[in-house]
Amino acid sequence: MLDTVARQGMVLMGCGKMGGAMLSGWLKGGLPPASVWVTDPYPADWLTGAGVHINADYPEAPAVALIAVKPQMMGDALPAVAALGGGRTLVISVAAGTPISTFEEVFGPGTPVIRAMPNTPAAIGRGITAIIGNSAVTEAHMTLTEDLLSAVGQVVRLENEGQMDAVTAVSGSGPAYVFHLIETLAAAGEAEGLDPGLAMALAKATVGGAGDLAEQAEEDPAQLRVNVTSPNGTTQAALEVLMDEDAGFPALLRRAVKAAADRSKELSRG
Ligand SMILES: NC(=O)c1ccc[n+]([C@@H]2O[C@H](COP(=O)([O-])OP(=O)(O)OC[C@H]3O[C@@H](n4cnc5c(N)ncnc54)[C@H](OP(=O)(O)O)[C@@H]3O)[C@@H](O)[C@H]2O)c1
Repeated sequence: MLDTVARQGMVLMGCGKMGGAMLSGWLKGGLPPASVWVTDPYPADWLTGAGVHINADYPEAPAVALIAVKPQMMGDALPAVAALGGGRTLVISVAAGTPISTFEEVFGPGTPVIRAMPNTPAAIGRGITAIIGNSAVTEAHMTLTEDLLSAVGQVVRLENEGQMDAVTAVSGSGPAYVFHLIETLAAAGEAEGLDPGLAMALAKATVGGAGDLAEQAEEDPAQLRVNVTSPNGTTQAALEVLMDEDAGFPALLRRAVKAAADRSKELSRG
């Protein structure tokens, strides 16, 4: 599946949390390290022993240039890879809030550009990445990108770039909302008298287990919720608080996701 990349090479610009998670997935999946050219000012220790080219001159036409630097570093980073524009190299960006048009300006006309939004569970192969390409992108480019990104989890295609703000607000930023749910569930357990360690163990396993169940079960999450809610029982007592239209999850998450999507739109405007 990664034959084209193994043959022609891949450039990875920025090898921090996200770039590093992806690269380790590809190397584990059999991509030869000698096919990878990494550019990063302070390469991590594991990287220096991995056999990839580090801060070396690029091949003339690698199959893929993956951009994984922070959006605010984009202006410094992109000039070094701009020569790969023109059509022979597929540019994939995972940067939040940087629109496809920014890459089209830097890499020039005819450059296939795919914008991707991954999330941090990619670090354990459980991410979900949404992708959208520009008009120079072919079905072969989309398939290659799906093959690459599936090394770190699921991949979904979007219909237009405008959806990226909502995707960022749901799955890109979403893991942080769930981490906060774990923190606050544990704190609430402590308030009910549990030891901190026990409360945290219960909260983590509950969120992790319920997440897995929601993904694997045939029923949808609403039905799963109904299944564990006995009339007048303990779960119902809590859900009456959480499902309150004004003060519960529905209004709170609507506001939180809207705030993230609005911020993503602002960042895209520069
Ligand atoms: N982490 C996530 O959950 C997540 C989710 C979705 C999208 N993303 C996107 O992924 C991108 C990377 O995020 P991250 O969390 O992986 O950040 P990160 O850990 O800070 O990684 C960025 C890497 O790029 C390096 N870098 C900085 N300037 C560079 C340059 N001029 N040339 C080459 N490399 C350079 C950094 O080196 P130094 O550390 O030495 O500066 C760092 O190793 C961001 O655009 C972000 O929006 C991240």
